[in-house]
Amino acid sequence: MPRKIAAGNWKMNGLSDAMPEAIAIGAASEGLDCATVICPPATLLARMGDAGVTLGGQYCHPAGSGAHTGDVSAPMLADAGATWCITGHSERRADHRETDADVRAQTEAAWDAGLTAILCIGETLEEREAGATLDRLMAQLDGSVPEGANAENTVIAYEPVWAIGTGKTATPDQVAEVHNALRERLGPDMALLYGGSVKAANAAELFALANVNGALVGGASLKADDFVPIMRALS
Ligand code: G3P
Repeated sequence: MPRKIAAGNWKMNGLSDAMPEAIAIGAASEGLDCATVICPPATLLARMGDAGVTLGGQYCHPAGSGAHTGDVSAPMLADAGATWCITGHSERRADHRETDADVRAQTEAAWDAGLTAILCIGETLEEREAGATLDRLMAQLDGSVPEGANAENTVIAYEPVWAIGTGKTATPDQVAEVHNALRERLGPDMALLYGGSVKAANAAELFALANVNGALVGGASLKADDFVPIMRALS
């Protein structure tokens, strides 16, 4: 059985006054039947070590160290307390022109540092409207999932680009179609997360789908009052 995971991607949000939210999320995660992971901005990682929550990075450079101003490496994330790392988020793919090959290299770097990768894939609205959703997603898997990916070192997050931060959640039928195809492709054990405007009001419906093993949550993971009900809906 795939593990269940409620992951929060704080993106470029959060200053030191966000600590109480992380602490409240950590406290609420105790005893739940799912893993809870918060991926804060890199600046908060080290200080969130005492919050009682499992931590992840949002990106890692393929190299372990070197002359890459402004970047963060997987060993740095691990050193700061992370055990997970998001790779291939569509905002990175768009803002930094990251390709499938980049995502593959980043995922390998995450593994090398002992981090579990949350590898993101997703189609644009144009691709969905052209009927190319599954082809696009399978091509992303082909290009960005390294050899050696397994249920321990990798989780796949399906995030339709048009549903991120827009309030438009994919319908249960749309999510089921994609997750069933991912399950067939990736085998019975890999956890499959859905991401895109997940909130307390739609979480239970999504988690009831056979091949949805959790969520990667953006906006609704920033406040414990919003995120804890999602964690509980999964547990
Ligand atoms: O990685 C999570 C994400 O892209 C979804 O963001 O704000 O739509 O939940 P949001």
